[in-house]
Amino acid sequence: MGSSSTNPFKGQTYHLMTKKLQFWRSYAFLFVALLCLYFFHAISPFLTANNHLSRITPTITTSSSSSSFPFKEEEERANVEIACNYTYGKWVHDKLGPLYNGTTCGTITDAQNCLAHGRPDLGYLYWKWKPNQCHLPRFEPKTFLQILRNKHLAFVGDSMARNQLESLLCMLATASTPNLVYSYSDGDKFIRHKFRRWHFPSHNVNVSIYWSPFLVKGIEKTESVNYNRLYLDSLDERWASALDQIDMIVLSAGHWFLQPAVYFNDNSVLGCHYCTGQNHTEVGFYDVFGKTLNTTLRTIIERRGLGSGSGIDVIVTTFSPHHFEGEWDKFGACPKTHPYAEGEKELEGMDAEMRKIGVREVEAAKVNAKKSRRLRLEVLDITKLSLMRGDGHAGPYMFANPFANGITERVQNDCVHWCLPGPVDAWNEILLDMMKRWERGLV
Ligand SMILES: *[C@@H]1O[C@H](CO)[C@@H](O)[C@H](O)[C@H]1NC(C)=O
Ligand SMILES: *[C@@H]1O[C@H](CO)[C@@H](O)[C@H](O)[C@H]1NC(C)=O
Ligand SMILES: *[C@@H]1O[C@H](CO)[C@@H](O)[C@H](O)[C@H]1NC(C)=O
Ligand SMILES: *[C@@H]1O[C@H](CO)[C@@H](O)[C@H](O)[C@H]1NC(C)=O
Ligand SMILES: *[C@@H]1O[C@H](CO)[C@@H](O)[C@H](O)[C@H]1NC(C)=O
Repeated sequence: MGSSSTNPFKGQTYHLMTKKLQFWRSYAFLFVALLCLYFFHAISPFLTANNHLSRITPTITTSSSSSSFPFKEEEERANVEIACNYTYGKWVHDKLGPLYNGTTCGTITDAQNCLAHGRPDLGYLYWKWKPNQCHLPRFEPKTFLQILRNKHLAFVGDSMARNQLESLLCMLATASTPNLVYSYSDGDKFIRHKFRRWHFPSHNVNVSIYWSPFLVKGIEKTESVNYNRLYLDSLDERWASALDQIDMIVLSAGHWFLQPAVYFNDNSVLGCHYCTGQNHTEVGFYDVFGKTLNTTLRTIIERRGLGSGSGIDVIVTTFSPHHFEGEWDKFGACPKTHPYAEGEKELEGMDAEMRKIGVREVEAAKVNAKKSRRLRLEVLDITKLSLMRGDGHAGPYMFANPFANGITERVQNDCVHWCLPGPVDAWNEILLDMMKRWERGLV
C-alpha cells in the first residue's frame, strides 16, 4: 500500500477496484482471442476454398512410435452396475484410435477439421480416458441410438456445445446416417448456423443444437453497443420454448461470460463486467455464471420436472479449458503433441472456478430435482481431463495448411476449440456411460 498512499487519488476503494479490474483484465486477451476466433471461423471457408491443398488428407496409421508406447490392453468388461466417478483418472494410450476421420464425417466445422487441414502429428488421436473407478468402453453408436430411440437430444450453449455435438454426430454416423432436417441462420456472419437438427431414421432419433452462449436471455454485443446484455432471471426462449419437445438436454456454456457485459436482474442493473466508462459496479462473471445456471436448471425443473407429462434428462458439461501459452496469433500458441503428464498441469484459476460453479449448481439443483421422479440431472465433468489435453486443440490448423509457405512468426491459433476427432470424443463416451447407468436405474 506504500506506493498507493503517495497518490492522493488512490483511495482504498479505488485501489480495490483497480485490483479487481486487473484481475478480470488478465482474461481480457482470452475474449479478444475468442472474438477473433469467431470472426475467422466465419471467413475460413473462403480461405480454404481457395487453397487446393486443403483437399489433401493425411492417412491415419498406427505409427511405430505410437505402438511402442507402453499401453495395456483393456480386456475388462464395462461394469455399469456400480457408479463411476469420471472426474479422476488418466489418459492411457489407445492403439485403436478414433471411430471416424476428417473425411468420413461431413459435419465437422471446417476450423476443427485438423486432419483435413494437414496437422502432421497424429499421436493426439491415440489416447483414451481411463477413470480410476471404472473402465470406459469405446463409444458404441448403436447403443447410444437405442437408448435414445424415438427421442430428441438437444445441445444448448456456445461453440463448445457445437464441438461436442459434432463429435457425437460423427461417431453416430459410423452406425447410422443422419439427415439434416432443419437449419436456421439469422444472417449473423460470425455464427452461421444457430439452430440445426438431424434425424436418424434408423432409430427415429432427433439431435439438435441451439445457439445460446449465455443460456439466459441475452443480447449479444453489436458494433454500436460493445457489450453484451444479460437478463439473469429469464431464459433464452429461443431454446427454452422448445423444452416440451426435448427428452435429453446437454447444456454447455461459459466462455462468453468473459466478455464485457451489463447484467440485469429483476428489471434492474445488477452490475457489469469489464465495462469501462460506465457507471455500474464491476461484479466479475463468476456469480453471474452461477446465477444463470440456477435460473436455467430451476426453470427446467419447473417446466419439465413437476406436473404430468414425460420426463427429461439434463446434463451440464463443465467448463472447457483453453491452452493459450501467450498471444493467440503467435507461432506455437498451443504447440503440444502429447497430453500433459500427471502432476504437470494443475486445475487452477478460472478453469477451476468455472468448473466448481457448474458442479455446485448441478448439486444444488439435484436437491430440488429429488422431488421429481421424472427428471434426471448430472454433471459431465470434463474440465480436468480436458485440461490434460493441451495437444488436442486445432492451433494453427484451424486453417488449411498454415505452413504451406514456410513457418511465419504470426499465425492465428485456436487453442480453445478441439480437433475432431479428438479429446471431445471422450466427453461423449462418458455421456453414453452415464446414460447406460441411468438405464439401469443408477442415478
Ligand atoms: C477415413 O475412414 C474411412 C472409413 O473408415 C476410410 O475408408 C478412409 O481411408 C479414411 N481416410 C483417411 C484419410 O484415413
Ligand atoms: C467425484 O469425486 C470428487 C472427489 O471425491 C467429488 O468432488 C465429486 O463430486 C465426485 N463426482 C461425482 C459425480 O460423484
Ligand atoms: C423429430 O423432428 C421432427 C421435425 O423435424 C418431428 O416431426 C418428429 O416428431 C421428431 N421426432 C422425435 C422423436 O423427436
Ligand atoms: C453513478 O451512479 C450513482 C449511483 O446510482 C449516481 O449517484 C451518480 O450520479 C452516477 N454518476 C454518473 C456520472 O452518472
Ligand atoms: C437457485 O437459487 C435459489 C436461491 O439461492 C435456491 O433456493 C434454489 O434452490 C436454487 N435452485 C436451483 C435449481 O439450483
